[in-house]
Amino acid sequence: MHIPLPRKLAASLLLACLSCTAIAQQPAPETAPARDDSLYRALGAEEGVARLVEALLLRLYADARIAFLFAETDRANLARLIREQFCHEAGGPCTYSGRTMLESHSGLGLKQKEFDAFVEDFINAMEDVKLPYRTQNRMLRIFAPMRAEVIGQ
Ligand code: HEM
Repeated sequence: MHIPLPRKLAASLLLACLSCTAIAQQPAPETAPARDDSLYRALGAEEGVARLVEALLLRLYADARIAFLFAETDRANLARLIREQFCHEAGGPCTYSGRTMLESHSGLGLKQKEFDAFVEDFINAMEDVKLPYRTQNRMLRIFAPMRAEVIGQ
């Protein structure tokens, strides 16, 4: 059957309008849009993050250049906070409940030397748990810029 153009147009306008209304009537999403969790998954999700943080703390607490800085620190609590932070920063389903980097590192008097030691331990820890270079680099790209908040405080 031949539908005259104006009716065709009206039909498609009506359809378009109906879908507009359908979209407009959808309730606002209650959760934030899906995050890119590819780095979190590359780390091995919850278990992988826990393994990495344990490897990092083993390295830090055994590193004579900086271990003394953790003498007064509750290790289990630090591990929990770093797990939360890594998970969150990597796009995982976690909330970081610790202090800001500025707050938690002020008063420690950290300099470039200590920062370098920490980064070396971090890279070795990522090697310990056999993360591929690409994943290591993605982690470093996130955490390296925090240098300015951590040193010279
Ligand atoms: C980008 C680099 C770093 C990240 C992502 C990081 C992450 C963290 C986190 C999440 C906390 C727990 C915060 C809280 O207590 O609320 C923390 C505490 C701490 N960090 Fe770092 N950190 C970094 C660099 C360093 C460096 C370079 C050192 C020393 C060499 C260091 C030494 C410490 C110490 C000693 C504490 C415990 C402070 C306390 O017990 O009050 N951090 N760090």
